[in-house]
Amino acid sequence: MKLPEYIAGNVPLAPLTAFRAGGAARYLARPAREEDVAATLAFARARSLPVLVLGGGSNLLVADGGVEAVVVALSDAGEFGRIDRSGDGDWRVGAAVSLPALVAATVREGRAGLAPLAGIPGRVGGAVAMNAGGGAGGASMGDVVREAAAYAPDGGRRVFAPAFGYRRSDLGGMIALSFTLRFPGADAPERLAEAARGFRERKAAAQPLGAPSAGCVFKNPDGDSAGRLLDAAGCKGLTEGGARVSERHANFIVSDGTASAGDIARLAARMRERVRDRFGVALEREIVLWGDGDGFDALR
Ligand code: FAD
Ligand code: EPU
Repeated sequence: MKLPEYIAGNVPLAPLTAFRAGGAARYLARPAREEDVAATLAFARARSLPVLVLGGGSNLLVADGGVEAVVVALSDAGEFGRIDRSGDGDWRVGAAVSLPALVAATVREGRAGLAPLAGIPGRVGGAVAMNAGGGAGGASMGDVVREAAAYAPDGGRRVFAPAFGYRRSDLGGMIALSFTLRFPGADAPERLAEAARGFRERKAAAQPLGAPSAGCVFKNPDGDSAGRLLDAAGCKGLTEGGARVSERHANFIVSDGTASAGDIARLAARMRERVRDRFGVALEREIVLWGDGDGFDALR
């Protein structure tokens, strides 16, 4: 059967993820219009395949065997790539807009709130779904999100105010299309630019931003830092195949370009074990796992 032009079969996902690891998607859909998202959900239902949503792939580990699913990566070529300003000061932002581009636009236009997220990769949809955050004060994406427009897997469209927690939201399993953002106030673009530069520089000094990774592997336990615990447990420099615990930040696994998803998952499991043995703390995973792979069970 001929596929719609925005759906392809057996597409390698590694190039679409920050780890640059993992297998292929049974189907990859890149819809640029809402009606094509609805049609993609019907396509998946007709084949009894689950739907998975891909943003920038910067918080994701895909199993080496790939996923028997329809992966939806919203295209930024149309409405999902737009930022619209409304008269009342709210912005309507498509889920496929790049997070750094959104942060830069808010800085340029004197909108406060997102400067602490400078330097975080990904798309707005993924950053909202993960409630990505940064900076010393713990600012996060959810702070500025008023409403989301999203499809549920059954095809129902909803507009609602998402709930957020530390590195989590209730968008899981949905396909968010766009968001209404409200900023806490205005500030001088020069001041915001200076603040963003500071956050970016501190991040680059503390984290290995040049190598393939997915950011922090584990969430911080209450009142502590997973990076500090992993470091104190002697994890820096541990390796599995092409995967290594960063010498710069112990909560980052970096790939030398050859790491398999199995290497990464096995290394993450060893890191967690070390912290449990040494400190009795069970670290909770932050990175999202897709598929079933070697080493994945121990990490779930
Ligand atoms: P993806 O990895 O593509 O997806 C993540 C999750 O969101 C998946 O479950 C996916 O299904 C879901 N999702 C994606 N798009 C949608 C959508 N449209 N609708 C519904 N669900 C969706 N994170 C931080 O919080 N703070 C940091 O400081 C930080 N630093 C990082 C540094 C590096 C070098 C890297 C590689 C990552 C870092 N991260 C950080 C992690 C990551 O950038 C964030 O979690 C976030 O921006 C992920 O966005 P994404 O589009 O890449 O999501
Ligand atoms: N530390 C170590 N060794 C390490 C890493 C950190 O001793 O290898 C210590 C630091 O010296 C510091 C403390 O741990 O005293 C906290 O470190 P840092 O300020 O780097 O923050 P973090 O808790 O490690 C969190 C987020 C990051 C975010 C930074 C900056 C989580 C899991 N991590 O890291 O987010 O960029 O704050 O805002 O919440 C992510 O979520 O992917 C991520 C990278």
